[in-house]
Amino acid sequence: MHTHEPLIKLDGISFSYPGGSPVLEDLTFTLSEHDRIGIVAPNGSGKTTLLHIIMGLLTPSAGSLELFGRVMQTEKDFQDVRRKAGLLFQDADDQLFSPTVLEDVAFGPLNMGKTKEEALALSRKTLAYLGLEDFEDKITFKLSGGEKRLVALATVLAMEPQVLLLDEPTAGLDQDTKKRLIKTLSELDLAYILISHEFDFLTATTDHMYPMENGKILVDEELHVHVHEHAHKVGAHPHRHV
Ligand SMILES: Nc1ncnc2c1ncn2[C@@H]1O[C@H](COP(=O)(O)OP(=O)(O)OP(=O)(O)O)[C@@H](O)[C@H]1O
Ligand SMILES: [Mg+2]
Repeated sequence: MHTHEPLIKLDGISFSYPGGSPVLEDLTFTLSEHDRIGIVAPNGSGKTTLLHIIMGLLTPSAGSLELFGRVMQTEKDFQDVRRKAGLLFQDADDQLFSPTVLEDVAFGPLNMGKTKEEALALSRKTLAYLGLEDFEDKITFKLSGGEKRLVALATVLAMEPQVLLLDEPTAGLDQDTKKRLIKTLSELDLAYILISHEFDFLTATTDHMYPMENGKILVDEELHVHVHEHAHKVGAHPHRHV
């Protein structure tokens, strides 16, 4: 029988920022191979905090994380995880720091021990894959918001991750670019957790959507989006549904 190994196993995770009230409280969640999970929750629910905990950027006050089959104990454990899990930051400016686009995309692969030639080839391939082949010599900080988000995604994908953590990837993207991103995500065949407020996008890119409330992911309250079809007696008057 084909089993899907758990990639991310969170058990009883709690977290508060210094002096603040709890953001995550006894959160339990598992992401397995091929899982494409959407998380939908209001601003300030702790979505970004959760992804940062998975990457080891924040340390929970309670609970355990088992990532890629290993219980996380030391910073060294997380260094290994950061090679396998790719986080697309909510704010692209947190992701990009090199002068040019090509340098930014090549940074990860170089850091993982690729030769300069390999890293550049991989970076160019990734940029081309995202339709950004003309971007390599551009100055990162001069890019538009949407361009930055795509380049940030390129820096993540160039590391050939096994899991993606996507924190509002469509923020600032136009409709065509969103469609391209839907296609990209479906072609990648990777497990991911995707945070978004856009139901259309989530419906197209994830298999399950869960809400977050009181510091927990509510897996028993899966969200379903219904297509709303209806007939009208009175012709083609423009109208709106709330
Ligand atoms: N660095 C920080 N220091 C103190 N409190 C923080 C910090 N970052 C976030 N918080 C608080 O923690 C809570 C959760 O924040 P988080 O960014 O995880 O929410 P979110 O669900 O990602 O929200 P959004 O949809 O707005 O991105 C919020 O109340 C926020 O004010
Ligand atoms: Mg957030």
